[in-house]
Amino acid sequence: MEDCFGRKITYLRISITDRCNLRCRYCMPEDGINLLDRSMILSYSEIEDFTRIAVEMGIEKVRITGGEPLVRKGVVTLIESLSNIHGIKDLSMTTNGVLLSEYADDLKKAGLKRINISLDSVDADKYRKITRGGDINRVLEGISAAQKVGFNPIKLNCVVENDSNEEGARGVAEYALRENLSVRYIPLMNLKSGTFGRVEGGDGGNCSECSRLRLTATGMLKPCLFNDIEFNIRELGAVRAIELALQHKPHSGGNNSTGCFYNIGG
Ligand code: 5AD
Ligand code: SF4
Repeated sequence: MEDCFGRKITYLRISITDRCNLRCRYCMPEDGINLLDRSMILSYSEIEDFTRIAVEMGIEKVRITGGEPLVRKGVVTLIESLSNIHGIKDLSMTTNGVLLSEYADDLKKAGLKRINISLDSVDADKYRKITRGGDINRVLEGISAAQKVGFNPIKLNCVVENDSNEEGARGVAEYALRENLSVRYIPLMNLKSGTFGRVEGGDGGNCSECSRLRLTATGMLKPCLFNDIEFNIRELGAVRAIELALQHKPHSGGNNSTGCFYNIGG
């Protein structure tokens, strides 16, 4: 499928929860968030049904995000059923890695192909500060577990204030080199002010080549992270919501005054 500007839309990012076991300074307010009412969150079967239709219409790549996707119960079952959808060429997940040592093996067996792990610093104190309390050792153990069960490639997502030359990013780069992992440097973004930039080592933030749609945990289909436009898949049905998202996908990102990273997914 194509949008009005001739961009091929092949990539669907699905946020399965707004909850997270970390509180990264740039993502979550310190006191946490007003948790969504359970009934608003899409059930796994709603997510599967939507994805099946999206894949029939042309989606080839699916990524599961959050919040932190591994905090939602039964996530392995969801991966298993999505991996059985014929036509998905790439099924991946972005996680903070805290619970990964427990889940890596099951996720691999369930058919997850690739994994991205958020890691902004390899210094334990800095990591604790950035994430407001996170334990880097659990993440490093999670990465080892993912390597051990054979995820390849494993990519690290490193949020940077400016670019990959800063201290935290350089530490992550050295660690990645030793461990044979690749790193994507994500410039610190601000949804409200519309501040965003291209991802170094990835394809995010590049409007002219954007192939993405995003589904929030509450079933809103968003054609652009930096825009308030969204379509309710429960009210409209999958096909109509996808058609509208294609029609209304903006030429380039502006700003998003209502959403947050933890409920749209990075
Ligand atoms: N700027 C850039 N990336 C962000 N993420 C969350 N908040 C921001 C932000 N303000 C992304 C990070 C993280 C993923 C879960 O969400 O890349 O790795
Ligand atoms: Fe959680 Fe990721 Fe947001 Fe950090 S950036 S608080 S790990 S959702």
